[in-house]
Amino acid sequence: MKVLVTGGAGFIGSHTCVELLNNGYDVVVMDNFYNSSPDALEAIKKITGKDFKFYECDMLDYDGVDKIFSENEIDAVIHFAGLKAVGESVEKPLFYYHTNITGTLTLLKVMKKHNVKKIVFSSSATVYGMGNVAPFNESMPLSTTNPYGSTKLMIEDILRDVCVSDAEWHVALLRYFNPIGAHESGLIGERPNGIPNNLMPYVTMVAAGKLPCLSVYGDDYDTPDGTGVRDYIHVCDLAVGHILALKKIDDIKGARAYNLGTGNGVSVLELVHTFEKVNNIKVNYKIVDRRPGDIGTCYADATRAQTELGFKTTHSVEDMCKSSWEFIKNN
Ligand code: WQD
Repeated sequence: MKVLVTGGAGFIGSHTCVELLNNGYDVVVMDNFYNSSPDALEAIKKITGKDFKFYECDMLDYDGVDKIFSENEIDAVIHFAGLKAVGESVEKPLFYYHTNITGTLTLLKVMKKHNVKKIVFSSSATVYGMGNVAPFNESMPLSTTNPYGSTKLMIEDILRDVCVSDAEWHVALLRYFNPIGAHESGLIGERPNGIPNNLMPYVTMVAAGKLPCLSVYGDDYDTPDGTGVRDYIHVCDLAVGHILALKKIDDIKGARAYNLGTGNGVSVLELVHTFEKVNNIKVNYKIVDRRPGDIGTCYADATRAQTELGFKTTHSVEDMCKSSWEFIKNN
């Protein structure tokens, strides 16, 4: 099976390409390097010992995307490409809507033209909004609190509507919780551009002395230690989830959402202290006000992915903290 991976040089995309190649898939990667680097492509080849075709292409470039499908017999698409910083999306909504929505519409138009109707989409737990009580399950009402999350929900809706219009489409909507960690090789991992939005990349920058202090956004939530609770999932477990969805894609009728999380909640301070312990390093932090738009507790009910896809997580929080730090130390 030949799989096009959009955003395949990115954090989750590169880890998924490793899994795909190690599982015998033919891979074609497309990326514009807006939030990634060619280094990741070389790392994928080094880790797997396998080669693959690469196109430097923006998903807004219809002719560029069309060329990929004209030159390759693509059977399915795993769609990671898109902007993903919550804070930046609030400052630049038009940039986010144009890139993520118009880009995805371009991809879907080209897929339809070439009769490619199998897609695994990189969605997010952020679509559960603020109105639900954890653990979140796929049947809960959906809403969003920022433009980034709105693009994810809109793309889910677009894919659901495409499936209603044409029953030949098979769509897996993978709702990630909080992906962290890095491949055991230390060759691929999360390297944020600029000041990180997310917790783990900020922690690693503070540990590396590149940022002075972590701001913990609030310790007055209704959680065991007052700090925000999230479902951190190792990026390698997440990558395996994509292979499992691909294997089941023909059995999926229409568009079907799957939570990819561990089902366990971990607080900010629990993660920081685990990071310090397993890496024997100090992380300076201070408690500050809550971040607008944050919810107190978010973790998955991962039953559907477990029963329908055979998905299960194998990496511990300790693994996630250790591998995150190994990657930063090596790079
Ligand atoms: C986690 C916890 C913060 C930074 C978002 C998106 C999701 C996904 C991951 C893109 C929260 C706290 C954070 C910091 C802190 N998207 N925190 N200080 O907000 O759960 O999810 O990013 O990859 O779709 O919604 O992730 O890592 O930003 O925050 O205290 O400097 O860490 O309050 O409790 P979040 P996060």
